[in-house]
Amino acid sequence: MRASYKPFFLGIIFTSITWCVVLYLYVSLSPINSSTTMKHHSVPFIVTVKEGKPSTVPIVINNYLGEFDQDAHSKKLVPHFKAKMNKSASNNLEANLGLVRNSEDQKIREDGYSKHAFNVLVSSRLDYHREIPDSRHKMCQTLKYSKLYLNTSVIICFYNEDPNTLFRTVHSVLDQTPAELLHEVLLVDDSSDGENIHNEVEEFVGKNFPPKVQLLKTAKREGLIRARIFGAKKATGQVLIFLDSHCEVNREWVQPLIARIQENRTFVVTPIIDIINSDTFQYTSSPLVRGGFNWGLHFKWDSLPDDSLKTNEDFVKPILSPTMAGGLFAIEREYFFDIGEYDAGMNVWGGENLEISFRIWMCGGRLEIIPCSRVGHVFRRRRPYGSPNGEDTMTYNSLRAAHVWLDDYIEHFFHVRPDARRVSYGDVGPRQRLRRLMKCQSFDWYLKNVYPELTVPGKETNQTSKKETNSKLQSRRKYHRKNYVSTYQIKLSGSHLCVESDKEVTSKGSTLLLGVCSKTKKQLWSVTDKGEMVLAQMLCMESPESSKQKPRLSKCHEMGGLQEWKHHDDIDTPVYNIAAGLCLGISSSGIQDFANPNLENTPVIMTVCTDTSAAKWDFVKIP
Ligand SMILES: *[C@@H]1O[C@H](CO)[C@@H](O)[C@H](O)[C@H]1NC(C)=O
Ligand SMILES: *[C@@H]1O[C@H](CO)[C@@H](O)[C@H](O)[C@H]1NC(C)=O
Ligand SMILES: *[C@@H]1O[C@H](CO)[C@@H](O)[C@H](O)[C@H]1NC(C)=O
Ligand SMILES: *[C@@H]1O[C@H](CO)[C@@H](O)[C@H](O)[C@H]1NC(C)=O
Repeated sequence: MRASYKPFFLGIIFTSITWCVVLYLYVSLSPINSSTTMKHHSVPFIVTVKEGKPSTVPIVINNYLGEFDQDAHSKKLVPHFKAKMNKSASNNLEANLGLVRNSEDQKIREDGYSKHAFNVLVSSRLDYHREIPDSRHKMCQTLKYSKLYLNTSVIICFYNEDPNTLFRTVHSVLDQTPAELLHEVLLVDDSSDGENIHNEVEEFVGKNFPPKVQLLKTAKREGLIRARIFGAKKATGQVLIFLDSHCEVNREWVQPLIARIQENRTFVVTPIIDIINSDTFQYTSSPLVRGGFNWGLHFKWDSLPDDSLKTNEDFVKPILSPTMAGGLFAIEREYFFDIGEYDAGMNVWGGENLEISFRIWMCGGRLEIIPCSRVGHVFRRRRPYGSPNGEDTMTYNSLRAAHVWLDDYIEHFFHVRPDARRVSYGDVGPRQRLRRLMKCQSFDWYLKNVYPELTVPGKETNQTSKKETNSKLQSRRKYHRKNYVSTYQIKLSGSHLCVESDKEVTSKGSTLLLGVCSKTKKQLWSVTDKGEMVLAQMLCMESPESSKQKPRLSKCHEMGGLQEWKHHDDIDTPVYNIAAGLCLGISSSGIQDFANPNLENTPVIMTVCTDTSAAKWDFVKIP
């Protein structure tokens, strides 16, 4: 039994939407290259692997294909929104979700990245009711939830969010939540200052959503933490569910959360957070992991303790979690206030998730991940906004949490963050009084009972457990190996020039240029089954976010997106980057004549696929 689940836990998860998108894309690239016969061979599945070590992005493992009953699901769609679906289905170009067709698209895409740090072009083309794969373990589909009597207020705070992405979040909640369990959806606009966002959202909400969706606005910018308190105070449902403003909830996401809270109102529960790729909006399932932290008070994902996933039931049972990631969780409304909501003295963002986690555990509650509840979340590589005055709110907030909850263990924090000793953190008196009033446990108790896996400096882990960790890491690496399909030179069609790196093949950040074809390492690109192009099997070709920059060599991150490339033939083919929506081209100075020998040393750039500078390439197989 155990052996059969190990690969499950260590592998990759694949999503249906991914290949739908890719298939469309693949097929629709053909007009660009009218001179070649299009071969509609099947597209390899796109899969994503991330090594199972703690990371700030959830790790994605295993090639479990969730059962995906498309027909049954479509019936649930709200009828009066069918119109939008027809439009997108009938318009073939709509299916090229990321394809940049002109400078207007290019502007939408690049403005989107700078404002929101995700691909707004794709989001704007994606249906509000798109199908996402059912990423739950198959056991979850057999569970029945009867006698659910608590209803929910879903609270979604946003600040300068991309409206389409926000609307898709709300639509998915309305589509996937039984009406009787959804008391209301509160959208809290934290005084967005972007162009007219509030008005646009207000108009859309009035026209398209039922009355239970309400738009609220804070009087001034409060930051995520106080905006959530603001929303919670207006809420009247029995359970509060906080969601980020760029999510899509999965099937039966709310039932298992409510069921668990009904068992005991002191249980605070979170769904598994699946990944929506910020470049492509591909939906990928996350494995079962749980929340931890390090002594710098940074949240991290930990793998589950050994042997915790042995039977089918283990994939369904609640998982104890020392901390939560913070974006998404459900809590009984009155209990949220009983235990002191959030620390309203914290600013904007950061650290509040650890603070509430410590408080829940130390003051008599319990924090759990519910594997049968899944919510997709757009993971961005950076936060697109800061605090209003540029303050480091993460440090400020972490210090407040440390001074209230860490007792003597605060020294471990200062050991990692000596700079934080002299930073001010405001008045934590009220929070310390709250802790005394609720007669909470000590941090020492928390470490011993909830998070014994955290290494306390000075108390070294014993040899046995160290050895175990090593062998675990090794078995993970085994699954981390790349699957190379073939190795090629990428030759500019009709020339004798090939794509090579301008520096050593080991040099991260190298740009690419055309060099006379020769079988040197600098020109040997190994293509993986995930569409990566890996130079000398070391670094991946990565498209820039903006067409103003050039493609470069980067560490392979296994997350697809800007490192995922498509070409539909081996001869005279464009090379398309899925996330960039752009094709591999050469600097426009040389476009008049691709056969011009003077093109040597011309830089390789990203261009709109229909532009003349979008070169055609030959993939010359190296045996
Ligand atoms: C959308 O498609 C459905 C089924 O294909 C059809 O019944 C309906 O009339 C279409 N709506 C529009 C506005 O074209
Ligand atoms: C949610 O529960 C409250 C309290 O029982 C009730 O007043 C309200 O009508 C319920 N909402 C829905 C949508 O059933
Ligand atoms: C609820 O859980 C807490 C611990 O988290 C426990 O102390 C309490 O007894 C439980 N209450 C019920 C009614 O089971
Ligand atoms: C060392 O770790 C192993 C595994 O975690 C445990 O079984 C053992 O009791 C530990 N030994 C000591 C001396 O703490």
